[in-house]
Amino acid sequence: MRGMGLRVAVYGGSGYTGGELLRLLVGHPEVGAIQVTSRQHAGSVVGEVYPQLAARERFVAPDEVEVPGLDVAFVAYPHMESAAVVRELLGAGVGLVVDLSADFRLGDVAVYEEWYGPHPAPELFGEAHYGLPDVFGGANGKRIVANPGCYPTAAILALAPVVERLPVSSVTVNALSGVSGAGAKATQKTHFVSANENVAPYGLSGGAPGHRHTPEIEEMLRRVEPGAPAVTFVPHLLPITRGELETIVVHLEDGTELPETGDVLGWYEEDYGSWAFVEARAEAPQISHVAGTNRARLSAAVDRRAGKVLLFAALDNLLKGASGAAVQNMNLALGYPESAGLEHLR
Ligand SMILES: NC(=O)c1ccc[n+]([C@@H]2O[C@H](COP(=O)([O-])OP(=O)(O)OC[C@H]3O[C@@H](n4cnc5c(N)ncnc54)[C@H](OP(=O)(O)O)[C@@H]3O)[C@@H](O)[C@H]2O)c1
Repeated sequence: MRGMGLRVAVYGGSGYTGGELLRLLVGHPEVGAIQVTSRQHAGSVVGEVYPQLAARERFVAPDEVEVPGLDVAFVAYPHMESAAVVRELLGAGVGLVVDLSADFRLGDVAVYEEWYGPHPAPELFGEAHYGLPDVFGGANGKRIVANPGCYPTAAILALAPVVERLPVSSVTVNALSGVSGAGAKATQKTHFVSANENVAPYGLSGGAPGHRHTPEIEEMLRRVEPGAPAVTFVPHLLPITRGELETIVVHLEDGTELPETGDVLGWYEEDYGSWAFVEARAEAPQISHVAGTNRARLSAAVDRRAGKVLLFAALDNLLKGASGAAVQNMNLALGYPESAGLEHLR
């Protein structure tokens, strides 16, 4: 059992992001005792169920967590399952709750209910900080951090500096993700036999783009620039385990002079140069350059013939797109360096 340090709980520790969180927290210099929940594996030692996780903690059922005295709780549940647990933890006095689901990301409950369904804790809506620190900073005293979606993280990091500086008339995000983005429970779409040697668009409703990350991307871009346009977002499933790549086509308002590629890279440097986990390079990013790291890698190109700006972003969906970002959010909320426990993933 670890000794002194932060008392932390991970809800949903048998899932992909929960497991990744556990791996990070076990090595975090400020973290002491870790409680980790699983309904399926309650009572078993984590490292025996998941030998790839060198963790000696034992899974407990969610209602067995010793909540009094917890400093931080991470909730890595599916959306609509998370909000009630977050409410309970806040009510019990936990100082900081980092929610990895979509339950507290959006600012308008009506928009949430249109895309997800009835919100389980509407009274807490609007109480959370949207945890993309490289754009919106640390939690600044808020007790709920809504950890962003993986696709929105890549899209907002690439787009925010651009919509802030140029009048943008349309945005199309072509996104590719490894299968771990869909969580641990296999479905027909994510079953090995469906995903292997295949690439498929998904999240289409009635033939039109309709993925739930669309309103999240649009809302956050409008927090940066109220006039930011609607976003067309089309994700594709790749037959790889982890990592995401987005190619984003940006159309500027008529009469706007196209920037140079170097201008866009310069804006990235201006906005992200002081942050540890976002970097811009002249060459387009690749998934293999970021998988297993907490880095988001950005690039840009200008298509003068077609009059468009292309942006590229790559990250690891389980790290910068989820658990790495969650640890970064905890660090900032509690006043530690943003890269504490994450230095090896820069
Ligand atoms: N995967 C990604 O790349 C990614 C990226 C960013 C954000 N997210 C978000 O992070 C959250 C977790 O994602 P994940 O991919 O880790 O999911 P996951 O692999 O499906 O894991 C979720 C875990 O939560 C527990 N759980 C499931 N349903 C529950 C319920 N009704 N009540 C209590 N516990 C329940 C399950 O553990 P037991 O059955 O053992 O209790 C499960 O292992 C989701 O909201 C997801 O959208 C995921």
